[in-house]
Amino acid sequence: NPNAAAASRRPPPTVSSIDDRASHISRARSYASTAATSSMLIYPLFITDNDDDMNLVPSLPGQHQLGIGRLVSFLEPLVHKGLRSVILFGVPMKPGTKDALASAADDPEGPVIRAIRLIRRRFPQLYICADVCLCEYTSHGHCGILRDDGSLNNELSVDRISDVAVAYAKAGVHCVAPSDMNDGRIRSIKLKLIEEGIAHKTTLMSYSAKFSGCLYGPFRDAAGSAPSFGDRKCYQLPPGGRGLARRAIIRDMSEGADIIMVKPAGQYLDIISDAKDLGKDLPVAAYQVSGEYAMIHAGAKAGVFGLKEMAFESAEAILRAGATIIVTYFTPEFLDWLDN
Ligand code: PBG
Ligand code: ZN
Repeated sequence: NPNAAAASRRPPPTVSSIDDRASHISRARSYASTAATSSMLIYPLFITDNDDDMNLVPSLPGQHQLGIGRLVSFLEPLVHKGLRSVILFGVPMKPGTKDALASAADDPEGPVIRAIRLIRRRFPQLYICADVCLCEYTSHGHCGILRDDGSLNNELSVDRISDVAVAYAKAGVHCVAPSDMNDGRIRSIKLKLIEEGIAHKTTLMSYSAKFSGCLYGPFRDAAGSAPSFGDRKCYQLPPGGRGLARRAIIRDMSEGADIIMVKPAGQYLDIISDAKDLGKDLPVAAYQVSGEYAMIHAGAKAGVFGLKEMAFESAEAILRAGATIIVTYFTPEFLDWLDN
């Protein structure tokens, strides 16, 4: 039973771990079903393989691609303000790094594994997640290994993805988060974690209900992971696919997922609610993706609404739907706003 190892794992950030500083906010906002607190937030970080990088991503306002050398000084003030958790994405920039097998994904000297080690050492209180996918590392930019005809080879993809997840876990990440949507990857990762004797200390957060669409554009600029041909529609869910999402959630739970994620968040509140319903005691995470963040910024810039007001409104809707963990690029702002 893949779930058996879950018992002694360090708990992920959840609403139940509201800290003192945030609790007066939850009282002030007690009219809401669930109030936002800093302990629910996971902040995405894009880590490059050029140590000195600090590149603003134009389509993702205020967000950077960061080199390892910039990481500590970048994180220090955020941790000081109450940052609890990050999710890491590797961005290989050096020419010749990408190949058909995504070899660089688990390079021990690659940006993700180096960042895991550094953050563990310098910020032991941070809860570290790592996105697990191949699209940042494959020459074609797809989330798996392809056959000669360009279709996904599921068996090879799952085998490779689970190896990468185990490498991150061995490097000390608290939570692995496979975002590829290949069939059977949750089971494969869980079994390899058990085999390696680290399943009890590694949380498996599955991007279970991940919908295809046009809200991931800024992310692909930040991560350099746009597919060079075709799209991700054959492995991500169609926007109308509520039943497919429910089936994917049930399947991932049966394969050993510890946290269910829904992505994007704001346009899929019914799916978040379904996940809460189906997930019973599993935490539900929602990823407010790059396009949602960019849209809110664009709307605020155009004078349609205030940035802070809409950021809160969107987060409150996501919480109301049933998520207790939000992955969001607004995390630094929320740490400021929740402080006041
Ligand atoms: C990688 C991955 C993506 C996102 C998270 N992990 C991109 C994609 O699937 O195309 C999207 C996050 C965002 O848009 O902020 N598979
Ligand atoms: Zn991917």
